[in-house]
Amino acid sequence: MAKALITGASSGMGKDMAFILSEMGYDLVLVARDEKRLNFIKKSLKTKVEVISLDLSKRENCFKLYKKVRNIDILINNAGFGEFGEFGEFYYTSLKKELNMIDLNISCLHILTKLYLRDFVRKNKGYILNVASLAGFGSGPLMATYYATKAYVLKLSTAINEELRVRRSKVRVSVFCPGPVNTEFNKRAGLEFKMKALSSREASEIAIRGMFRKKMVIIPSLREKIVAFLCKVSPLRIVLIACYHIQVSKRDYCQKI
Ligand SMILES: NC(=O)c1ccc[n+]([C@@H]2O[C@H](COP(=O)([O-])OP(=O)(O)OC[C@H]3O[C@@H](n4cnc5c(N)ncnc54)[C@H](OP(=O)(O)O)[C@@H]3O)[C@@H](O)[C@H]2O)c1
Repeated sequence: MAKALITGASSGMGKDMAFILSEMGYDLVLVARDEKRLNFIKKSLKTKVEVISLDLSKRENCFKLYKKVRNIDILINNAGFGEFGEFGEFYYTSLKKELNMIDLNISCLHILTKLYLRDFVRKNKGYILNVASLAGFGSGPLMATYYATKAYVLKLSTAINEELRVRRSKVRVSVFCPGPVNTEFNKRAGLEFKMKALSSREASEIAIRGMFRKKMVIIPSLREKIVAFLCKVSPLRIVLIACYHIQVSKRDYCQKI
């Protein structure tokens, strides 16, 4: 039976992707820190599920995971978080939290992509879905580190995808770039969305469908596609001013509620 490994599967989109793939008949390996939650999810799934509790912000755990789990068909690098902090400004935000974010959002994704991609390329089959964000297209004052980590994921994934296309590999790396999605992301980041957010299930369905279609960049809605396009064609100063105001309005909205 085909098998998928999902990081960050204890809540939000990782959890919904697990349900979708299980409904499609995939066996699963679910990874996150909260073992209790993972086991609770396992009970509701119909296919074979292995639960692995690991803190993936620690590099040695990423290698441990690869050593433990081989022979997968799909890798979904979904684990990640953002941090707004009290004021948002880089001057004030916690260096410790930011380094932890870089370790999870960048280093872990990089390590797992590299290790499993080599196996996939040798077999000439397999899918990798890296979860970035619409934030990856912008530069994000007041959430500078998070935006930068997602830009890394977007650039890395698209570059690898081109290498695979040129070598005529059947393996593809897709990158998912959603805008706001209703998950536990906000609570963890200390934020509140002002814009209408997609449901986690909706977003996850779009991501999985795009991955199976071997789409390079998956952006859920027309509104988000327009935002990504504007980020690409507008002068950097305009993008910065717009991103700053979006973040400020989220902060002010957050303080009101
Ligand atoms: N929600 C949005 O609006 C949005 C928009 C664009 C992109 N994204 C991206 O989507 C991805 C999924 O986030 P989500 O929105 O579904 O948020 P979420 O509900 O907070 O899920 C995050 C997942 O990551 C796991 N995780 C966090 N730290 C970890 C660590 N050190 N080691 C292992 N697992 C860890 C969490 O599980 P444990 O706490 O159990 O470890 C959880 O399962 C993230 O990469 C996020 O940046 C979200």
